[in-house]
Amino acid sequence: MATSAPTTDQAPDPARSITFPPDFLWGTATASYQIEGAVREDGRTPSIWDVYAHTPGRVLGGDTGDVADDHYHRWAEDLGILGDLGVGAYRFSVAWPRIQPTGSGPANAKGIDFYSRLVDGLLEKGIQPVATLYHWDLPQELEEAGGWPARETAYRFAEYAGIVADALGDRVRTWTTLNEPWCSAFLGYGSGVHAPGRTDHADALRAAHHLNLAHGLAVRQLRDRLPAGSQVSVTLNLHQIRPMTRSPQDLDAARRIDGTANRVFTGPMLAGIYPEDVRADTAHLTDWSFVREGDTDIIQQPLDFLGVNYYSPTLVAHDEGGGAHNSDGHGVSVHSPWPAGEGVAFQQAEGRKTAMGWGIDPTGLYDLLQRVAREHPGLPIVITENGAAFDDEVAGDGRVDDPERIDYLHGHLSEVHRAIASGVDVRGYFLWSLLDNFEWGYGYSKRFGAVYVDYETQARIPKSSARWYAQVARTGALPT
Ligand code: NOJ
Repeated sequence: MATSAPTTDQAPDPARSITFPPDFLWGTATASYQIEGAVREDGRTPSIWDVYAHTPGRVLGGDTGDVADDHYHRWAEDLGILGDLGVGAYRFSVAWPRIQPTGSGPANAKGIDFYSRLVDGLLEKGIQPVATLYHWDLPQELEEAGGWPARETAYRFAEYAGIVADALGDRVRTWTTLNEPWCSAFLGYGSGVHAPGRTDHADALRAAHHLNLAHGLAVRQLRDRLPAGSQVSVTLNLHQIRPMTRSPQDLDAARRIDGTANRVFTGPMLAGIYPEDVRADTAHLTDWSFVREGDTDIIQQPLDFLGVNYYSPTLVAHDEGGGAHNSDGHGVSVHSPWPAGEGVAFQQAEGRKTAMGWGIDPTGLYDLLQRVAREHPGLPIVITENGAAFDDEVAGDGRVDDPERIDYLHGHLSEVHRAIASGVDVRGYFLWSLLDNFEWGYGYSKRFGAVYVDYETQARIPKSSARWYAQVARTGALPT
């Protein structure tokens, strides 16, 4: 478990380090609802996450994003921290209800101003802004009109995307439409462990299609409005699925989960089709008539890169008992997020785990990158999230030492390097997260930050992993 990685600022010894390509992009990532707070300021209206978090019993400890990291007020201080880290890029998300408080219609100037200041501040520091348009904060008004299971939401999203592109497109070169639409669809409308907390598998599939459609429509808007040379992408939490054995039953369980975890998104987005087996596996729930003629042509848009978020592999086996157990790390629920998950059991990996209970397996990232490269040749990849929660504590001397996180990052970056060396076109890596923040259903109980946040005082304390990562990002060299 010990790593030889230095935690000081000394220069890496070239004989004992591996080097990333010189133009490899090093960054950190956050998302609006997880850090901003200020939920009632400057015209912002509630999103589905405000309503969900304020519903008793939904979020651990009754936590909400009302204050979070107070980043809305402390963004300048946070930019200072980013500057100290020396990263080349910062991935943030735009809160839709700040930009369009009713979910449609004209832009709210104060909402635009916030992100405009942030972008200017990043550029002044020489940090490349990477904007995600949707990291789960759907305006509540749109949820009341049907949410993602309603087709109209996709068109509202495209309108919003156009507004943000017009406002920031002169300075933001790199764009992501959706973050992890699997979570929005299957945790939001299937298992209900994410906002809006609905539990209907047919609605979850409908939501998945409308998220796909929203992506395609938004890419068109972005292409129409952004200057040449802008980069447009989507971020998927592709599941690296590992069947427990090679038995036909386990392999079939893995195939089914792969269908609604991965291929229901990569199929239409990257190949213009919904795979036949996904439709067949879910035929007892829906006839898929929500997919209209021409939709997959809209969804399949050329992308400049694919954003991949990876934390842990997904281990599946056939379950004789016929049950569909949700132990994907997002909490055990009586509802499963898997529409085709009957007869599938999810297993825990042996060995070390993060504070989320997620097994640590860096080779899963390597295998995933190989798969993407094999199935989608020519599509560059950016790792838009990777990181780990641990139970960090402030020591008596005021420092936060997190050797386990350094070890996690070291292991995963080594696998990224191995993938690049084997020919996979990986262009960048974003550590999740810059700051400890609101970890959705787990509230503030899980800390993913390179920087510790004291929620009583809002003090920021860079952890030893922040110093370690800064060194890697500055030098492009990973100690072996
Ligand atoms: C993925 C999500 O995009 C992010 O919001 C979340 O905090 C991390 N995974 C960790 O669970």
